Amino acid sequence: MLWALSAEARCSDNSSGVGVVEYMNAGAAMRHSDSTRNTLSFGNRTSSSKMPKCDISDLALFGGQSTFEHIRYVGRPNTGDRDRFFSRLDGALDRRWLTNGGALVTEFEERVATLAGTRHCVATSSCTSALQVLIRAAGLTGEVLMPSMTFAGTAHAVRWLGLEPLFCDVDPDTASLDPELVAAAITPSVSAILGVHLWGRPCAVDELAEIADRHGIPLFFDAAHAVGCTFGGRPVGGFGTAEVLSFHATKVVNAFEGGAIVTDDDALAETLTALRNFGFGPTELRAGTNAKMSEASAAMGLTSLEAMAENVAVNRARYETYRDAVADLPGVELVSYDPAETSNYHYLTVLVDEAEAGVGRDVLFDVLRAENVFCQRYFWPACHEREPYRTERPVRLPHTERLAARVLTLPTGPAMSTEDVLVLCELIRYTISAAPAVLASWRDLRGRP
Ligand SMILES: Cc1ncc(COP(=O)(O)O)c(C=O)c1O
Repeated sequence: MLWALSAEARCSDNSSGVGVVEYMNAGAAMRHSDSTRNTLSFGNRTSSSKMPKCDISDLALFGGQSTFEHIRYVGRPNTGDRDRFFSRLDGALDRRWLTNGGALVTEFEERVATLAGTRHCVATSSCTSALQVLIRAAGLTGEVLMPSMTFAGTAHAVRWLGLEPLFCDVDPDTASLDPELVAAAITPSVSAILGVHLWGRPCAVDELAEIADRHGIPLFFDAAHAVGCTFGGRPVGGFGTAEVLSFHATKVVNAFEGGAIVTDDDALAETLTALRNFGFGPTELRAGTNAKMSEASAAMGLTSLEAMAENVAVNRARYETYRDAVADLPGVELVSYDPAETSNYHYLTVLVDEAEAGVGRDVLFDVLRAENVFCQRYFWPACHEREPYRTERPVRLPHTERLAARVLTLPTGPAMSTEDVLVLCELIRYTISAAPAVLASWRDLRGRP
């Protein structure tokens, strides 16, 4: 309270003419008051870096001090129990077995198959290599139909193998492939459909499966974001012909770097297992690659899997804090998760509508970055707006472009405290409350008309 009073005092000469926003301490209810001044105050503060924003010159972007002394990142790795990790690593060293079908990778594959509800899991060095091994194993040619609203790696994996991604627009409500547009886009040169469970929200899997069946082509999913999620109560992993997972350091389960293909197709699993290991299989020699997961990665993967439930519980709590804190903010829509499903809540995504918020996504992005909030834009630019696709295969995808222009990914998870989330949301609230002045100064700074 004292702190808040001093904040009021500090801001008392403020004359910017926009609303006061303040909260007294973490967890306290936020309230609007006095519409003649513009104050963002943080209770329970000891660090000068969290001094209130009374005027837009207090924003770090315009010369003020950064709110957070240390950077708050999106996707800070969840590392699990260190002793368990080191003991697993010790075991591998003791066995002198570091890769090539070691005990840890084998156990990791069993655990991931159980989580995904599939008969097989083939662990790989990354999700990207998983995708490439899968494309080769399935003998794909020509084009692979996929959303452009995904990480560039999804498209590049296809392109790297000499195939072309055929980008299809998304449903603006779900941000994943629109089945009607998919059905209309299929031609004889499309050899597979590759859906992406963006932000951990499953695609329209039934509709896509019906289209794939009708055309006699396989359906795959990039489930990099959706480890531990369900659709219709069934775990992600068992949909389509196969799904690929990511265990990159930033993911909900991490193996430093790592990935996997999960499938119920026995023959496909055998081919995948051979192709990730140079093509060495039980019966025939095929040209493969080296996409194996190491024992060290599996040691981290197993340890991180053990911590998943705990981390997801924290993700969910942070999500709820964000949800409540931005609920009344104009132009800031928090992307939601279906409460009837299990979600990992690993991506905290908001869509910023400039017409309503008064500032666009890029302004908010710049403001937050300057405050040491290392937010991201997952995914902007969308793949079709990146090289080489932009130049070589130009296409307009209006829903994707509108989404990509609004998307802002905010830090969440165990590396963010509840208080951090509240402070961050108050920064957004302040920025919006001072939108006209912030926008004018941002334009000056960026040399925008
Ligand atoms: C949707 C999506 N697909 C694929 C990947 C690539 O994963 P990896 O880094 O494991 O290759 C990522 C990585 O962030 C991703 O977000």
